Formats: sequence, structure tokens, C-alpha cells
Amino acid sequence: MRMVDLIEKKREGEPLSKREIRFIIDGYVQGTIPDYQMAAWAMAVYFRGMLPQETAELTLAMAQSGDQLDLSTLGKRFVDKHSTGGVGDKTTLLLGPMVAACGVPVAKMSGRGLGHTGGTIDKLCSVPGFRVELSREDFLAQVKKIGLSVMAQTGNLVPADKKLYALRDVTATVSSIPLIASSVMSKKIAAGAQGIVLDVKYGSGAFMKTLEEARVLAKTMVDIGKELGRQTIAVLSNMNQPLGRAVGNSIEVLEVADALQGKGPQDLIEVSLELGAWMLVAGEVVSDVEVGKERLRKSLESGTAWDKFLAFLSEQGGDAQAVANRRLRVAPWNLPILAQETGYVQPFDAHRIGILAMTLGAGRVTKESSIDLGAGVVLAKKAGEWVEAGEPILQLYGRDKGSLAEGLQLAQFLVTVGSEAPVLPPLIEEIIR
Ligand code: URA
Repeated sequence: MRMVDLIEKKREGEPLSKREIRFIIDGYVQGTIPDYQMAAWAMAVYFRGMLPQETAELTLAMAQSGDQLDLSTLGKRFVDKHSTGGVGDKTTLLLGPMVAACGVPVAKMSGRGLGHTGGTIDKLCSVPGFRVELSREDFLAQVKKIGLSVMAQTGNLVPADKKLYALRDVTATVSSIPLIASSVMSKKIAAGAQGIVLDVKYGSGAFMKTLEEARVLAKTMVDIGKELGRQTIAVLSNMNQPLGRAVGNSIEVLEVADALQGKGPQDLIEVSLELGAWMLVAGEVVSDVEVGKERLRKSLESGTAWDKFLAFLSEQGGDAQAVANRRLRVAPWNLPILAQETGYVQPFDAHRIGILAMTLGAGRVTKESSIDLGAGVVLAKKAGEWVEAGEPILQLYGRDKGSLAEGLQLAQFLVTVGSEAPVLPPLIEEIIR
């Protein structure tokens, strides 16, 4: 078999067989297929797409390209959650402790941020002492002990995705439905999930810009789950503006601490309750999603979710008291962006907020970039809220004077004010099972 023939076959829109897909994935991981051929193939997939059967085969080949976890030793049904990526998306940190407090173990491998989207692992690194690299044994022991652990993806879990994702990122082939679907689902399957809850985001801050595209992506992933025997539920949620008000790393952890202590923000709570409740359904501890939401709400009100969060931070070596006492480092170079007029904040581009946070130092331009965990942007006002002229709309936290000046250029005309209250779409659009 020759890779050049398979690129040509896909370029002509023909489906690939299971053997051909295995040849591509195994060859790429082993290094016999070079980046330039893989890039050409990814672009052919981008334009020609894949049949459901092909996407399922690709997912399985990727899931089996490295180590796979056996979580059956947890003795409980193991449910995982994944977001397709957004701005200010801190739901894992909020729903992890809530779901664990309700009796469903959360053993989660998360990623770092790349481009305009943030990553849970970077956020956790802003807690002094917190260890994101755990051995597989320590990871599982912690889940058994307190029901919750979050670690960085281990060295050899889905190496095919690691290589291919980095390649897609620099060849404009990220937003291909079969490539996103196989990337997400291969990680969940290799991590041993029996139930999978997906947060499929659409809107200006997401990879899928329209609801229709997001619906196709969600259906594709639910079908892969069905094909591979994993119960999969997809929640379609709106990402036209960041979730919550903080976009950065330490400032997002502080927002999560507030939320776990009953101090909102409402949109973050709503999305976390929806996703968390479906995790309880998939974990078979409740059969009704509304009952699940009620349980999660109780875990917030009673403080059990907050206690679980602090125990989780301490267990992984983090200074939980620094979080409880709001002593996380925030970048000292800060500047408010003030409203020029009085009125309603109009919808703005969440993608540009992500780019702004990245420019201030909170995100990576390339995988190798260093970031400032204290940098970012806080949205003092969000779309639809009332603002008086002279009040802050955004608060910028820059890593240094230069990044703050650059951020100012981007932020100045990012948010506008008008006399009409905008009509905003619902946060949760649809559930696909
Ligand atoms: N998240 C992933 O894990 N993979 C993608 O391709 C896109 C978002």
C-alpha cells in the first residue's frame, strides 16, 4: 500500500477501507508516513469528508494507537466529559467536584490551551504546587480515594491524535467534522469511558460557527459512540460569548471558587448543571436529568462540592488555602476599558476575546510558547447588560507593559454599546442522544 494512492483516493472522494485507515494511522505514528503526506491527506478529508463507518474506523485506529486505560478497577461506571473548545470554558473545574460529590467518579485527562481556546491543565497550574503529571497508579488511587482527579494527558495515550492535532493546527484543517469527531472520541475511548457526555459548542468563540455544523458534529460523535458501544450524549451549547466573566488561568480558577460557593455566574452554572446532570444519568445514579440537576444544586448549596474541590486541589499537592483565600497570582499590569456611551452591551466576537486574552499572555501562539498564568481579561459587562458611560466594560491583565499596550489596541473597539437590548440565543440549544 502507498500513502500517495490513499491521498489520491480521498482527494477523489472515495471512501477508505478499515485496512487503509489503519495503514495511515499506524504509519503516521511510527514515522513512516511524513507530515507532508499526512497534511495533504487531512486537507483531502477536510474537503471530501468521511462516511460514518470510515469516521468510526478512524476513531478506533487512533484510540488504539497507544496506551489505553482500564478503569474497571474503579468498581463504578466511569463517565467522561469533553468540550469541543471555547473561550472562558471552565466547566470541568466546576462540574468535576459537583459530579464527584454526587457519587460518580471523575477521572479526567485534560489538555492545555492552544490558540484562542483555554485548557483546564493551564488553569490548574495557576494553583501553587498543583501537580498535573501523575503516574497512572496515583491517578487511579486518587479517584478511588476522593472520587476526583484531573491530570495532563499521559505520554502515550492516543499518540496519533497528539501528532495529527498539532499538524491540523498549522495546516488549517482543525474544523473538519470527521477529524474533530475522531480526535475527541478516540481520547474518550482510550481513557476507558463507558459513558461520554460531550459539550459541543457553536458560535463565534467555537470551532463550529453555526448551530447546523455543530449539530452534524454532535450527531457524528453520538453515532461513533453507538458504533463502538459507548453511551454518548451531546449537549449543544452557545459560545457566542465567553462562559462566565473571566478568560485566563488564575482568574478563571478564582471564578470557579466563587461559583462553587454559590456566587454565580449564572451562565457557567447553567451549562455545568446541564452537563453534570447528563453525567449522572450516564453514570446511572439518576434516571432523570432534572433530578440530576437538583442533586448537583444540593451539592453546591450544602458545600459538599466546594469541599470536594479543596480536597482535590490538596490531594494533587495544590495550595487549596491560596484558592480559598483568593491568593492566586494575578498579573500586575492591568487596565480597564471604559464604555464610551450609556446603553446595552451589544453581542461581540468571543473569538476576538480569546485572541485578546492570548495577546495579554494567557494563551499560546505555538505549542512551545510560555504563558503568564496571571494574565487575561475579565468581562465586567456581557452582551445584553446595561452599562453607564465611563463604567468599565473590560478589565485587562497583561504579562508586561508591551502585551498590555497590544491588548489595548485589540480591546478598544471590541465591545460596542447600543440603545436596544439585543436578543440573545438560549445557552443550551439541544440534546442529542
Ligand atoms: N477538541 C479536540 O480534542 N480535538 C479537536 O479536533 C477539536 C477540539
